[in-house]
Amino acid sequence: MKSFNEISEIITSEIEKLDWTMQPSGLYEPIAYTLSMGGKRIRPALTLMACNLYTDEIQQAIAPALGIEVFHNFTLLHDDIMDRADIRRGRPTVHKRWDDNTAILSGDVMQIAAYQLIAQTPVDCLKPVLDLFSATAREICEGQQYDVDFEAIDNVSADDYLEMIRLKTAVLLACALKAGALIGGANTADANELYNFGINLGLAFQLKDDLLDVYGDEATFGKKIGGDILCNKKTYLLIHALKLAKGADFEELSNCLKKSYEQPDMKIAQVTKMYNKLKVKKICEDKMMFYFDMAVANLEKLQLDTTKKHELKKLAEKLLSRND
Ligand code: IPE
Ligand code: IPE
Ligand code: MG
Ligand code: MG
Ligand code: MG
Repeated sequence: MKSFNEISEIITSEIEKLDWTMQPSGLYEPIAYTLSMGGKRIRPALTLMACNLYTDEIQQAIAPALGIEVFHNFTLLHDDIMDRADIRRGRPTVHKRWDDNTAILSGDVMQIAAYQLIAQTPVDCLKPVLDLFSATAREICEGQQYDVDFEAIDNVSADDYLEMIRLKTAVLLACALKAGALIGGANTADANELYNFGINLGLAFQLKDDLLDVYGDEATFGKKIGGDILCNKKTYLLIHALKLAKGADFEELSNCLKKSYEQPDMKIAQVTKMYNKLKVKKICEDKMMFYFDMAVANLEKLQLDTTKKHELKKLAEKLLSRND
């Protein structure tokens, strides 16, 4: 069994080998730019780690793992247009450094490149992996649509939010794990249990992302703090704040969502103050830990030695205590 760090080194060197020097450079340079900035690269790591649970031959899972990472990066190019985000991984986003059309079209070609990499999955499990990936890609679009739809409505429930993040975020982690397991030769029960582990980990992961969007440090998070507040994103924090705020507090918070601000920082400060007053951070952290525990329970059900599962548990812990 390889450690997460060993797996990460393999992914880093394989991503460096991808060639984006084709013409027109206006199409490919933004891809090289995006992929060279790293990110945590947890999705391809999950694919290789899941594969490695069942075989030492992880080489066969590398192309699909890279495909999943390229696909993830594609979603970020479009997501940053949709979310009006200027900074990612500590650098200007593609639509800022270039323009919207560049982020749209470079994103499109990344999606195709992702499919080309996934199509290199060993032929004996190509069909299930490709079907899983395609279903996942559609679900992500569905989740992203809900995310945007919810900006404009105030009666989003906690369950609506959880379903939205399952779609936009959790299914890709789950897909990464299940694809790796299938390539490694896992039985159906284990492959599905790893998928469920990915869902629970992904829900916890997005709750953490939402927390960092308010309480993180810009330099380490690599994104602008308060972006979700400026977009009126219906995060777990905002949904609970709207539910808990009474009287004048509710008026103030509702006003913040309606009003247009000359200084966006004022909105971030006002909404954050309300979050603090209503103690919604703890509610979000508790929900995150609830899904972490569910994820650990999924790992326990895998028909494998406990020692083999340890690396995945360690990675899950690391992701939920992260600052980036
Ligand atoms: C960002 O994903 C989008 C979310 C689903 C929260 P990551 O937090 O994995 O971003 P990178 O790839 O590490 O930059
Ligand atoms: C992103 O969610 C999910 C996808 C890109 C599919 P966010 O919008 O919260 O991700 P960040 O915070 O911009 O990375
Ligand atoms: Mg988004
Ligand atoms: Mg975003
Ligand atoms: Mg976010």
